[in-house]
Amino acid sequence: MATALILLQALSLVSSTILSRADRITRLPGQPRVGFQQYSGYVTIDDKKQRALFYYLAEAETKPISKPLVLWLNGGPGCSSLGVGAFSENGPFRPKGSVLVRNLHSWNQEANMLYLETPVGVGFSYATESSSYEGVNDKITAKDNLVFLQKWFLKFPQYLNRSLFITGESYAGHYVPQLAQLMIQYNKKHNLFNLKGIAIGNPVMEFATDFNSRGEYFWSHGLISDPTYKMFTSYCNYSRYVSEYYRGSVSSMCTKVMSQVSIETSRFVDKYDVTLDVCIPSVLSQSKVVNPQPQQVGETVDVCVEDETVNYLNRRDVQRALHARLVGTRKWAVCSNVLDYEVLDVEVPTINIVGSLVKAGVPVLVYSGDQDSVIPLTGSRTLVKRLAEELGLRTTVPYRVWFAGQQVGGWTQVYGNTLAFATVRGAAHEVPFSQPARALVLFKAFLGGRPLPGEF
Ligand SMILES: *[C@@H]1O[C@H](CO)[C@@H](O)[C@H](O)[C@H]1NC(C)=O
Ligand SMILES: *[C@@H]1O[C@H](CO)[C@@H](O)[C@H](O)[C@H]1NC(C)=O
Repeated sequence: MATALILLQALSLVSSTILSRADRITRLPGQPRVGFQQYSGYVTIDDKKQRALFYYLAEAETKPISKPLVLWLNGGPGCSSLGVGAFSENGPFRPKGSVLVRNLHSWNQEANMLYLETPVGVGFSYATESSSYEGVNDKITAKDNLVFLQKWFLKFPQYLNRSLFITGESYAGHYVPQLAQLMIQYNKKHNLFNLKGIAIGNPVMEFATDFNSRGEYFWSHGLISDPTYKMFTSYCNYSRYVSEYYRGSVSSMCTKVMSQVSIETSRFVDKYDVTLDVCIPSVLSQSKVVNPQPQQVGETVDVCVEDETVNYLNRRDVQRALHARLVGTRKWAVCSNVLDYEVLDVEVPTINIVGSLVKAGVPVLVYSGDQDSVIPLTGSRTLVKRLAEELGLRTTVPYRVWFAGQQVGGWTQVYGNTLAFATVRGAAHEVPFSQPARALVLFKAFLGGRPLPGEF
């Protein structure tokens, strides 16, 4: 039914343009001159106005009206899409000292990019009562994200019925499919979301498969020895360890195995990119949940003291320019210190939801930075292949290389018309951070519904 949409359009025209104008960013401190508009601010997600989510919109560099709307979500749970996604991965700027420099491979070359700090308690998003931070789970987050978008459209009626894509990485392998599923359900009654596809990078989709591919990844990349690999697969695998860890009872077997694994892998290797030999900002340690490191409790290993994004987003003038407020916390943090997320939700599979989206005709891209040991490509590839088999999808693009410029950007395989898998060569857990040019080629092909370039 298009009526709900039209009604919403009519209602919103009155008040909303004024609202969105209030959210317009005149200029971010230290920002170079640009030709596109930026907006940021809050959308309250309950009637008592006690919980509010913070967003940042970077409109497309050229012809924003003709370009799609893309929502980007980081994972954690509890990490910020503004700090990680926008300012370290695929947004238009990166903080450098006291200024912002252009990201030459920003995704707003292809789309209007909407970054959402979610759930409440993350970044500048807040609840006035701290009890709202307790027991937050996947269900609550998906629902809040849905309400956010509904209300955001009231501020930005020009984006109603625009082609909409949802993207994200890591724990957003939960957020993105769960939100998409709610949209499809909502659309059955009120056709509001013009959902055109989802893309998830190094996503958690099925706990055991994803986590247990870590052992082989460590071993094949030389991070652990043969005997340790054997223990890590037969005595205590990683999913068992994490499962015990989150139930507060790690067995002595798992303690023993994990301590050997962490001695050999060493804490001087970044698990999110095992080959990068530069200092990775702590910004990029996305998750306590997907990568718990209890053996390091008590140590304060801050690999990089410099944290440009944390410094930038904690400046008063920056917060003023963003229309951001700190409520109940003194500092903006990359990953929330106040949110108490239901960690066992990591075990909830979302691969079946991905399957239902594919069945509903929503294109899905699962991509994988191939240097990541936290959610390795092998687990994602297995899950996608298994799903294609379950759905009876034939291979339409056989496993092959794809190109970015004249170099191999990675490998890809496509099933049916709707399910695609791709690796990104030389990329970390945060693909657009470490391989920005390749990530942009990937993003462009995804938006266009095309397979990745097979030649140059
Ligand atoms: C929304 O967009 C689709 C095309 O993407 C179009 O078919 C449909 O009529 C539009 N609906 C409304 C209410 O504008
Ligand atoms: C991981 O360990 C659990 C518990 O021991 C076991 O049920 C599961 O089959 C193991 N998975 C793999 C892939 O080895």
